[in-house]
Amino acid sequence: MPRFFISTPIGFEKQVLEEIKACWPHLLTKDAQKNNLPFPAEFVSEQGGLEFETELFVALQLNFFLKSANRILLRMTSFKAKDLPKFYQRVKSLPWASYLSHGNVEWEIAAQRSRLNNEKRLQESAAAALSELFPHENPQKPCASIYIRMDEDLCTISLDTTGDHLHKRGWSMLKGEAPLRETIAAYLIRQMIGQATPAQMSAVTLCDPMVGSGTFLCEARGLATGHFKRAFAFQKWKNAPKLFLSESFPLNYSLSSSKVFKAYRGFDLDREMIEVSQRNFAEVEEQIRTLQRKQYEAADLKLECRNSLDSSEPIEQPLWMILNPPYGERLPVVGKGGLNALASELCRLYKPQKLGILYPEKEKMTGLPGGYELIHQVKVNNGGIRCLFTILAPCKNEGLC
Ligand SMILES: C[S@@+](CC[C@H](N)C(=O)[O-])C[C@H]1O[C@@H](n2cnc3c(N)ncnc32)[C@H](O)[C@@H]1O
Repeated sequence: MPRFFISTPIGFEKQVLEEIKACWPHLLTKDAQKNNLPFPAEFVSEQGGLEFETELFVALQLNFFLKSANRILLRMTSFKAKDLPKFYQRVKSLPWASYLSHGNVEWEIAAQRSRLNNEKRLQESAAAALSELFPHENPQKPCASIYIRMDEDLCTISLDTTGDHLHKRGWSMLKGEAPLRETIAAYLIRQMIGQATPAQMSAVTLCDPMVGSGTFLCEARGLATGHFKRAFAFQKWKNAPKLFLSESFPLNYSLSSSKVFKAYRGFDLDREMIEVSQRNFAEVEEQIRTLQRKQYEAADLKLECRNSLDSSEPIEQPLWMILNPPYGERLPVVGKGGLNALASELCRLYKPQKLGILYPEKEKMTGLPGGYELIHQVKVNNGGIRCLFTILAPCKNEGLC
């Protein structure tokens, strides 16, 4: 059975495994029937990824549904190599002709703690092996990406199934300043959902009071759907499964028609950001509409250009708030209280049942808003900045708060 490696942001491995479990029953067989393959018996989890075995046809489909993963690699082989001739022969012996339509590929090579640690020479040798297999064809556009990792003389060669990084959903193309990666936004929303059931969530209004380009709201709305509008690397393979080449194949999936949350609300000081988030959300909505057809119901969305700290206008309860405020000096000033005051003000004004806030670890939240307690906290690397995502909720026992 083929082996796969799903690369993930560090710390997201467990969440990605949950996502695989959730979408597994929806995956299809080659003749578009419900897949009834047993769930892989073993997932080897390492920092930044998961390795497991399953049918190729099934694993390729994970690309459509995983929200927090980076990419999916098909493991071609793994072997000990201490000299270039052996490496060359092994590269040449792999069944590239089943996947590649020509010999022009992109290389991703990483070598460390190995006798063969010159990445340039490894690439030249691998490219020479491929050009022997494909002597005539060499169009300008690469047809695939091959990953070679050499660590302690162990060489692992993989073929990328994904193409563009999985945070590219095929929606939300317009961005503001400091936008959040979709993979991170989806992970944080899942952290906030925790054990809440779909029925409980369907009563909740989700609000991002500093909405920017709307990544949180778009990800939340798209949580139960797949990404079918973008292209994936495996669709260019020579042996690409026929099912995935037809335009209408997404309609074979029986996905939930839930709107995930009851309503979506967003505020921003910047009018342009409100327009951007409006357009991005409309793009998500349109993709969901084409997939759900008759079952489709538009989400209840309201985006307003305003200072979220100025208003006492209530929002429908139960309310969850999620936000990624500007960092450092651009953090909205509430008195001189920094993050603590920002969280307190949001809790005082809107009384959310949950408040999830992402901020740099070094800007520490030192106190909690009155009447609220910390229910969960995770560390996240947000574009190179070490951040904390802190979830607060009204105290269960007010007396102890
Ligand atoms: C870091 S960005 C949010 C990025 C967003 N998560 C995304 O993915 O695009 C912060 C946003 O907060 C907005 N903002 C700052 N202070 C605000 C306030 N008091 N009320 C409403 N919006 C505010 C800024 O205009 C900016 O668009």
